[in-house]
Amino acid sequence: MSDDPNFMRLALALGRRGLGTTWPNPSVGAVVVEPGTGRILGTGATAPGGRPHGEPLALAAAGEAARGATLYVTLEPCSHHGRTPPCTNAILAAGIARVVSALEDPDPRVAGRGYDLLRQGGVAVETGLLQDQAARDHIGHVTRVTRGRPAVHLKLARTRDGFCASAGPERLRITGPVADGAVHLWRAHADAILIGIGTARADDPSLTVRLPGLSGRSPLRIVLDTHLRLSPASVLARTARDTPTLVLTTRSAPAHARRALEALGVEVATVPVDAAGSIDLPAALAHLGERGLTRLCSEGGPRLAEALAQADLIDTCTLVTGPVELGSAGGLPALGPALMQALAGDRFREAERSQLGPDEAVTYERNRI
Ligand SMILES: NC(=O)c1ccc[n+]([C@@H]2O[C@H](COP(=O)([O-])OP(=O)(O)OC[C@H]3O[C@@H](n4cnc5c(N)ncnc54)[C@H](OP(=O)(O)O)[C@@H]3O)[C@@H](O)[C@H]2O)c1
Repeated sequence: MSDDPNFMRLALALGRRGLGTTWPNPSVGAVVVEPGTGRILGTGATAPGGRPHGEPLALAAAGEAARGATLYVTLEPCSHHGRTPPCTNAILAAGIARVVSALEDPDPRVAGRGYDLLRQGGVAVETGLLQDQAARDHIGHVTRVTRGRPAVHLKLARTRDGFCASAGPERLRITGPVADGAVHLWRAHADAILIGIGTARADDPSLTVRLPGLSGRSPLRIVLDTHLRLSPASVLARTARDTPTLVLTTRSAPAHARRALEALGVEVATVPVDAAGSIDLPAALAHLGERGLTRLCSEGGPRLAEALAQADLIDTCTLVTGPVELGSAGGLPALGPALMQALAGDRFREAERSQLGPDEAVTYERNRI
């Protein structure tokens, strides 16, 4: 039986560790293996900030031993001069005999050209190994290239009877520590966390990664705030110099509110409004894509979730259901009609179901059509 899938699994695991740190570039894993013996000669993954790429790092680790070896790589090697020289050149110069790749890069500057250049250079190229997993890991890069915006992972926690908050001002704890740990890991693997001003005002969250060993991995925090109501006294504003905060607002934002937030280190950017007078979501996400963001974790409330569903901007959705019930007291329903319809329809499929302590998490993925 071929060991190819095992080496590709290793390359995928190496790439996955860097998710959230390499934007605007994808986090690519690479492994150089001696044919016959299966000895691992070198490994690499895209460095923080997006360069060097994973392939040259793995080739450098292998050194002269890379001559005649097999390279496993999670994404088609780049063939264009970007901020770094093309990886195809490095692979040919190293004398790699065979390349096994998981996913073709849809970037029009590459899109099959990387494979062609390698084949023309006499390298045996095999593609599509563990492609589904690679597509999941590289969803940010693929979505930014094909849709011009970051991929959106929507997360919502709800009570067993379907509410995401109580009716009154008191904060409702829905999930336990295991689920909270999972949320922090999603945050660490995101380029940015997105919320609406409703959540910022109700919960005054810090939206940082508080997992042992990953505390340096807090991503950018983004608030959608049409009229710039984010308080300078909020945690997000007060800690903006430690963990960057970006507020997307509109022309209606008062200048004094902008000055007060900017004085604290908050970045304020103006984006277009939609017909209803709110921030235009497709335009806001396109703006974030232009900035190079590839992976967004949406942790806003039901209004933002519903608006994302209405605009068909959700790529992955995780619903975490806790054991709490609000009963006749009721509260704020977690799922609006558009989100409910989207998850029940054929645009999404259930991809994973897991028990996180007392809470159950179900993840839905957009069908690739
Ligand atoms: N259980 C959970 O997973 C969870 C997660 C987060 C929050 N919550 C709870 O949800 C409640 C807050 O709910 P929410 O729905 O108000 O919070 P939200 O969705 O985070 O914020 C909604 C606000 O964002 C602003 N916004 C700007 N552009 C928007 C757009 N295009 N689409 C939608 N919103 C846009 C709007 O205010 P402007 O018009 O003023 O800009 C809107 O009222 C709190 O009680 C909080 O505790 C629960």
